[in-house]
Amino acid sequence: MQAIVEQLKTTVAKTSATDIRAAFASDPKRFEKFTARLDDLLMDYSKCAVNDEIMALLEKLAEDGGVAAKREAMFTGEAINFTEGRAVLHTALRNRANTPVVVDGHNVMPDVNGVLHAMAAFAEGVRTGTLKGSTGKAYTDVVNIGIGGSDLGPAMATLALAPFHDGPRLHFVSNVDGAHIADTLKLLEPETTLFIVASKTFTTIETMTNAATARKFIADALGEAAVGDHFAAVSTALDKVSAFGIGKDRVFGFWDWVGGRYSIWSAIGLPLMIAIGADNFDQFLSGAHAVDNHFRTAPFRQNLPMLLGLIGYYHRNVLDYPTRAILPYDQRLSRFAAYLQQLDMESNGKGVTLDGKPVEGQSGPVVWGEPGTNGQHAFYQLIHQGTSIIPAEFMVAANGFEPELRHQHELLIANCLAQSAALMKGRTLEEAKAQLLKAGADEAKADHIAPHRVFTGNRPSITFVYEQLTPYALGRLIALYEHRVFVEGVLFNINSFDQWGVELGKELATGLLPVVQGKAGTDGQDGSTAGLVAAIHAASN
Ligand code: F6P
Repeated sequence: MQAIVEQLKTTVAKTSATDIRAAFASDPKRFEKFTARLDDLLMDYSKCAVNDEIMALLEKLAEDGGVAAKREAMFTGEAINFTEGRAVLHTALRNRANTPVVVDGHNVMPDVNGVLHAMAAFAEGVRTGTLKGSTGKAYTDVVNIGIGGSDLGPAMATLALAPFHDGPRLHFVSNVDGAHIADTLKLLEPETTLFIVASKTFTTIETMTNAATARKFIADALGEAAVGDHFAAVSTALDKVSAFGIGKDRVFGFWDWVGGRYSIWSAIGLPLMIAIGADNFDQFLSGAHAVDNHFRTAPFRQNLPMLLGLIGYYHRNVLDYPTRAILPYDQRLSRFAAYLQQLDMESNGKGVTLDGKPVEGQSGPVVWGEPGTNGQHAFYQLIHQGTSIIPAEFMVAANGFEPELRHQHELLIANCLAQSAALMKGRTLEEAKAQLLKAGADEAKADHIAPHRVFTGNRPSITFVYEQLTPYALGRLIALYEHRVFVEGVLFNINSFDQWGVELGKELATGLLPVVQGKAGTDGQDGSTAGLVAAIHAASN
């Protein structure tokens, strides 16, 4: 692999591949050559610094890295998450073909379908009002209490699919900061509120603490006996759930082969199903399933997750770009970048290879972003003229859901396309000067100001276009990014499916709680921590 990476670096240095503007000028077919499609989903990577030679080397890199074999190992239930001894089978959760998927000699599909049916019946009961709170009133509000993968997926997707939302109001509480739940509870009537406690492990301190606060909210208002009627739970730890007092008919399980950040397709998706209904949720799963099939079968140059993964790797490890920006021109995808931060950075933010050695080169980039056009008025300045090159990933629907506001959607599309064009084309010194002269500046002023108005251009971007942000389209988009993360993880030669890096902070927080509470002294703490504790104690009232 390293030899191919070196070859890529040499090719980049010796060819004009990195002059994207020139590449467009010399090849009228460039767009056709460097785009790929899955139905109405178009991926345009023609504005990246690639040519046929580089694409051939990237394909070779995928072969050399064993991506295809590892992909099959994942889909067929091998325990590829070896540090936790687990298979990685979020794809089974959306396996609408229902072909057997075997883990430890057991076909998991009947279990998957069983939970989906139970979720659908429960969601239907909540949506139609046949399931009621302790005083006989239907639920008007559903609050998901979870964090990380037990929050980001359903929160992001519920917002994304707002036009399909015809169930009760949804709220999401994640932060252990009491402000989060306090501000949410202020909006709610206990009689008509249902809490879903979502935690794979059912031990996460934030979720358990917020769940206890929610439990008190119900018990104080309606009595201890009412708790069962106002709670449901989603977890793999069914024994721990029953200790909380939630009845078996309101508990939805999943399995250790579903990673938290890959769990939106499991019972963790229950709030989304309550919001949009079981049929739309089924469409969401079907979109992801279509990408799974495509990822397994499409040839390299037509395979969207492969292309996205290999170009991601190329940006990180050949061209050395440390971050990537996720820029949906779709306001309802406003939490998509946050969702991808966990998906990508918790998966590929690792420094050790599968055989325990330091990663050669770089592993996952920093992922960040905001929807356009808002980002344009905030951080795009740096993307266009800053000293770091930041590959941008744009996404936009051909259609919004507001036909009466078509003119606004057209403006949105125009802005999306303008940004990627500006990044690629840039503006030369001569062009900048000519513009100033045309606007009436004299020669001296034009020379003085022009350098500040230069855009170097040649800044890479990928653009996704799709018909409309339906449940199917959203499922497809998420699965596409999941598999991109997988492809990059294989090339980094890391385990993308554990998350040991989150442990140390959790352990230290547990030890620091009694210190913060004043029940233990600061002996043994480092000087900074001890100083901060003292400052907080001095300021506490
Ligand atoms: O922050 C680490 C983590 O384990 C994530 O991977 C996970 O999504 C989140 O915490 C929540 O975990 P749980 O669903 O077990 O409460």
